[in-house]
Amino acid sequence: MIDEFCGQRGDRVLFVGEGNFSFSLALAKLALDKDRLNQWTSTCYESKPVSEKASENAAALKGLGVSVAFGVDATKIDGNYDRVVFMFPHVGGKMKIQKNRRLLRHFSASAATAIADSDGGRVVVTLCAGQGGTDRELAPRSSEADTWQIVKMMADSGLQLVDAKPLASTVAEMLPDYASFGYRSLDKGFHTENAVVHVFALNSFDGGLDFVQKRLKLLSRERRTCEVAVRLATLLGPDFEVDADHDEGHGAPDLKRYKGTTIPRVLLSFDFSLELGSNPVKVFVLTRKVLGSLKKACAEGDVTAYNATEHCFDSFDESWQEMWTELPSVSPASYSHDLSFWSREDLAIADLRKLVWLRCGDFVSSFEVIDDTFVGADSRRSYTVRIVYKTHAFALGPETAYDLHRKHLGAALVDKFGVELR
Ligand SMILES: C[S@@+](CC[C@H](N)C(=O)[O-])C[C@H]1O[C@@H](n2cnc3c(N)ncnc32)[C@H](O)[C@@H]1O
Repeated sequence: MIDEFCGQRGDRVLFVGEGNFSFSLALAKLALDKDRLNQWTSTCYESKPVSEKASENAAALKGLGVSVAFGVDATKIDGNYDRVVFMFPHVGGKMKIQKNRRLLRHFSASAATAIADSDGGRVVVTLCAGQGGTDRELAPRSSEADTWQIVKMMADSGLQLVDAKPLASTVAEMLPDYASFGYRSLDKGFHTENAVVHVFALNSFDGGLDFVQKRLKLLSRERRTCEVAVRLATLLGPDFEVDADHDEGHGAPDLKRYKGTTIPRVLLSFDFSLELGSNPVKVFVLTRKVLGSLKKACAEGDVTAYNATEHCFDSFDESWQEMWTELPSVSPASYSHDLSFWSREDLAIADLRKLVWLRCGDFVSSFEVIDDTFVGADSRRSYTVRIVYKTHAFALGPETAYDLHRKHLGAALVDKFGVELR
């Protein structure tokens, strides 16, 4: 857990909003490696030491080789780092939920720029119990609206939550000199029980919308799945293509020997002549990710463990998204948006659903038609669809979610079906 805060040897680490500097000093005393500590910078917001103890701590940090600076605004970070750490950010005062969210938002923009040149850069934010509002809280609040919504606040800067864990008592034991500072902006500690350490990495939406095409390219790069990709591309039609430089003979895995077990039953019953509605790509996601363990379990005569994965075949099921992603999001945020439009009389819901899946499979977790009526003297057809955006594949913030909804999906509907958005 200590590594979450200091990273690797040689990492440039910036501590912001340190208050009395006791946290970074406690860590530095543990690290005690000059080469490492020379790369650390510890800062506080206040223009001078907040207490005598803070002065002593700052001097001790300098003695260990850590750079110290006062009056540093975490929303305006200068320089490049591999790790930016903010312990218990707070604007001060009581009941400032909106201001604290804004602090996180502005901090995330500057921290994201600060780690942009780092390979494996991380932004680490620790919040008191319940504040963050993720599903990793040990003491969750009853409503998301009462939380600081840390995942959403950090996401529009491209910061994706990749880990979240309790600031366990073992950490407190390892850092006995850490004395939290700033209860109601005073030189007083606060409760840190059940606090959560949130770790973010940069992973923005790359602007590509063509989910299936991108996946086909990925599949076609692997020997084991390239033939599958070619077959799928053929099935999906002339709009899809794959890289053709693959070895013949290294195609789809032979699953016949697993006949009779749960997942293979689904795999073997998969009919390549079916329409896209059966989500063929999911089959291969599953094949790629679970085949190794499936073989092992079959060899050991235990196949029941795989029953649970059967639900991966439901439309827009996020569990398969998670399996597919290299750097999966922890507790991804979700956003529900409605889209209303006039359409042709014969536009089928199945076609709408297919387009949404094809273009937005990476970031849509549900699609529902909530209104389908004929309105007005000329009986024009009016649709309203409700789409829930949620993804394990990249940082999805409120602005990105809305852009995906209006500009990308809305535009795709206009383009493909000639609908008129309302
Ligand atoms: C609850 S205290 C926590 C202090 C210390 N990190 C700790 O763990 O004891 C919140 C701290 O956030 C700092 N802070 C508030 N806004 C800030 C900003 N824009 N930039 C840097 N620090 C800020 C305050 O100065 C204060 O020291």
